[in-house]
Amino acid sequence: MPKSRIAGIGMYVPQHVVSNNDLTSYMDTSDEWIQERTGIKERRYAHRTQETTTTMGVEAAKIAIDRAGITAQDIDFIVFATLSPDYYFPGCGVLVQRAMKMGEIGALDVRNQCSGFVYALSVADQFIKSGMYKNILVIGSEKHSFGLDFSTRGRNVSVIFGDGAGAVVLQPAEDEESGILSTHLHSDGESAEILAMYNPGTHANYWTSQQVANFDEAEIGQMFMSHEMIDNAQNFPFMDGPSVFKKAVVKFPEVIMEALNTNGYKPADIKVLIPHQANLRIAQFVQQKLGLREEQVYNNIQKYGNTTAASVPIALCEAWQQGMIEKGDLVCLAAFGSGFTWASALIKW
Ligand code: UT7
Repeated sequence: MPKSRIAGIGMYVPQHVVSNNDLTSYMDTSDEWIQERTGIKERRYAHRTQETTTTMGVEAAKIAIDRAGITAQDIDFIVFATLSPDYYFPGCGVLVQRAMKMGEIGALDVRNQCSGFVYALSVADQFIKSGMYKNILVIGSEKHSFGLDFSTRGRNVSVIFGDGAGAVVLQPAEDEESGILSTHLHSDGESAEILAMYNPGTHANYWTSQQVANFDEAEIGQMFMSHEMIDNAQNFPFMDGPSVFKKAVVKFPEVIMEALNTNGYKPADIKVLIPHQANLRIAQFVQQKLGLREEQVYNNIQKYGNTTAASVPIALCEAWQQGMIEKGDLVCLAAFGSGFTWASALIKW
């Protein structure tokens, strides 16, 4: 069974830089608070009308495809990870297929938030290993800026997130040694609501038939998104940050060790760890817990904030572009986020 390898990698971030100080004109926050609690100095926001999650994904994909030495028409499957799709449906995968004038290939959207890219990579890896496809485009892209609460009410969430995209082309590995060694996927839905965007959604189905029987017609009409819900900020993401933090610092090291143990490696063998860029303090905690040196962990949250499904491929791309990753190097990707879901991938470059 051939392993799969990353044959090309690309990233795209919007030009518009938003500093922490810029945010202080909308909400009661400070550069000091944001840097101290998260490490973030600035983030990028997509153009309100000219850029979408799909268009950013396409820009990253063009670079990845070019670096793989193929054309968009050679791609035989798309896996697109995002929590901020252009449309509620259809997904972004088909929009990439259309924009890049690809053949009538399969396109799959993955909805696993911060671990979306690692999940997407794992799905693509299985398709390559089974021999079903030869050139899979895997994209992680987010346009968070369209839907954050920029008032003080939403500051614990909105200062963290940024926009951007990353993409890879996955192909069968050329030799037996290199490629994706293993991927590890986990979930625990027990705390699904502590990091979530509830609306729009169909969770009203949870209401009992007795409750629904008591609704009048106007209430039923407003069930999914009423003015009251909007006034109460129920159309924005909700996060109980400290609870997420506590879980993340346990699950990150666990899933990284799972990948290393599966393949008989130790933390010291990792050339570069690419953790999902959720919070610099989380990445530093993981580094300390695993006894990794600073140069073994790549962080860029300072420049881009948390770009959710895009954060791992953007960081991987930058680390690669900076010459930190060379053939034969052991690279570990790890992510944790809403769901909760968490995941890792160990790659021999
Ligand atoms: O990528 C998906 C997974 N997400 C994560 O992994 C996020 C994990 N959690 C975190 O990164 C951190 O919990 C946050 C960065 C979100 C928050 O940091 P924290 O140190 O946990 O702060 P906190 O939520 O406990 O809030 C501390 C104080 C509160 O004020 P009081 O109640 O102590 O008076 C907040 O109201 O900081 C206040 N606060 C802010 N102040 C200035 C919250 N957000 C802000 C803000 N600016 N933006």
